Amino acid sequence: MSQPEILIAAPMLPVVMDALAARFRVHHLWEQPDKAAFLDETGLRIRGLAVSTLFGRVDAALLDRLPGLEIIASFGVGYDNVDAAGAAARGVIVTNTPGVLDEEVADLTLGLLLATLRQIPQADRYLREGRWTERSFPLSATLRGRRVGIIGLGRIGKAVARRLAAFDVEVAYHGRSRQPGAHYAFHATAIELAAASDVLIVLAPGGPATSHIVDAAVLAALGPGGVLVNVSRGSLVDQPALIAALQTGVILAAGLDVYDDEPRVPAALIALPNTVLLPHIGSGSFATRNAMGSLVADNLIAWFETGRPLTPVAET
Ligand code: DGY
Repeated sequence: MSQPEILIAAPMLPVVMDALAARFRVHHLWEQPDKAAFLDETGLRIRGLAVSTLFGRVDAALLDRLPGLEIIASFGVGYDNVDAAGAAARGVIVTNTPGVLDEEVADLTLGLLLATLRQIPQADRYLREGRWTERSFPLSATLRGRRVGIIGLGRIGKAVARRLAAFDVEVAYHGRSRQPGAHYAFHATAIELAAASDVLIVLAPGGPATSHIVDAAVLAALGPGGVLVNVSRGSLVDQPALIAALQTGVILAAGLDVYDDEPRVPAALIALPNTVLLPHIGSGSFATRNAMGSLVADNLIAWFETGRPLTPVAET
């Protein structure tokens, strides 16, 4: 039997590319000089699409150009890059890569939180610029004894909360609903959580339901000693409101791994001394990115061999 044809939207790790090439007839979208002509020619034959949440969108226009599509295997736990409702309406399955990145993202969240509070990157720059000889580095805020609010107590949120237990802090959370069995205080709104927190960590999924859940009012409630950490999606935070809050002392500092329009980061954010800015590296270790890539390949293989993908998203 001939191998199913699949399309890979952007380069993936070699181990994934090799696994896909061994099972499928693979096309590389990024190598096509005329993408429209290529999709016209192959659209009916392409049955699987591998995409990354970190690069590119799968919108209705792309879905319309792939009428033979059966499955979209997305690299990443967040899949707000994929029009999942549009895919469901066309009978196309969407899969993501949950479960294999929780601990890595939780580690990074703690690292970013400590880096922001203790100004670790700023201190590194200070030393490299030879300024230590002029005077000691300014004193920083501390984590111990603070109240930490988590927006989104899902798998990653819980992994962060577990780590926080070692830091002698009080943890509370806000989410769509109270989590059965969670022994942290629940707040029904983001603004209530912010008012009861010194540090606010954003870990909920992207999409319309959470868009700008952290707005100017939530930042004002967090207050002048407050620190915001966002490791989920830029869309959850009103970015212009955050910049204004950091510029005017409405909050103390922010640690960000995600932005509105990645990889573009506003110059105003970069200019602020009270920010630690990372280029979306939450899951970015060799081991975890390989595990995510393998799950992309395994979902495609499972679908074409058994008709049952391993990790379909809820909408589809
Ligand atoms: C995800 O999996 O959604 C992450 O953002 C990728 O690091």
